[in-house]
Amino acid sequence: MRIFSGIQPTGRKHLGNYIGAVEQYVAGQERGEGIYCIVDLHATTVPYDPVALRSDVHDLAAVLLAAGLDPQSAILFRQSDVAEHTELQWLLMSATAYGELTRMTQFKDKSAQHEFISAGLFSYPVLMAADILLYRTEQVPVGDDQRQHVELTRDVAQRFNARFGETLVVPEGYYPPVGARIMDLQNPERKMSTTGGSPQGTVYVTDEPEAIIRKFRTAVTDSGREIRHSPDKPGISNLLEVLAAVRGTSVAALEREFDGSGYGDLKLAVGESVATYLAPVRERYGALRADEQGLERTLERGAERARAIAAETMRQVRGAMGVGPVG
Ligand code: TYM
Repeated sequence: MRIFSGIQPTGRKHLGNYIGAVEQYVAGQERGEGIYCIVDLHATTVPYDPVALRSDVHDLAAVLLAAGLDPQSAILFRQSDVAEHTELQWLLMSATAYGELTRMTQFKDKSAQHEFISAGLFSYPVLMAADILLYRTEQVPVGDDQRQHVELTRDVAQRFNARFGETLVVPEGYYPPVGARIMDLQNPERKMSTTGGSPQGTVYVTDEPEAIIRKFRTAVTDSGREIRHSPDKPGISNLLEVLAAVRGTSVAALEREFDGSGYGDLKLAVGESVATYLAPVRERYGALRADEQGLERTLERGAERARAIAAETMRQVRGAMGVGPVG
């Protein structure tokens, strides 16, 4: 089973990224051949600082390794090291409808946040499709917010195959059963996010344990008393999902366990569990991040392995589309 996913380097990684995605990458190593890409090219589609971008890539590589990605088995690499991503993006643009891109909710949200709306931001989902399709990916572990992009990737692959002959593998999205959409602790109607969230409501992977416990203690909930997962209780539902994800149990089991307890008990239990869950990651992160040369070597080796797969897909795509030399 070939598994591929991408993650943006900019901004500090938070609990939503960790539970919704990173944890799934690590678990994916057991299910199949994992390929994980730090998507620095995606990060250039909104205003950013070029110097910070380089160091953000290292921060993220260290987080992923600290989480338990094994670069001996999985492939971990930086997107811009493999030029085939942008070549395939261009070729897939012709198999993507303008109208499809105008319907992307992430484009609508992000373009509302910026004055200068780059063409890169608009065509971002096609680069994402190229990332996935380049590796003949079967499964794409992502959080719920990437569902529309994965569906677009499937549509583009099917359209390409119908027009140019069976060339691309049509991938499936893989969404974690709990924690595919972790919400902001201060505003549980909004997803936890680096750009749109509140600082107090966002738990970072490298937060100190006391800060994590404090953020959960002050999490916004409703004024009721019942600990139950339901749409009219977004705050409590989010806390139950986070606890279920970090403990590896079900929301139903937690509802039984906390039956009759107060909201304060639940907040404390989640805060302590998350602090314990992230503490070893934070410790390993420190040592890994300090070794910049080691991180670069890991990314370079990953890029070499990624290129070998990408080059073969491009040979087939060029052949099918009639571009480039014969063969
Ligand atoms: P990005 O970098 O915004 O997020 C990385 C991963 O974290 C997940 N995620 C969440 N999961 C649960 N709850 C949340 N609050 C939450 N916030 C983020 C995201 O769903 C994602 O899985 N476009 C992608 C990056 C990308 C990609 C790809 C992904 C580029 N190419 C190819 C998969 C395959 C993005 O911006 O994710």
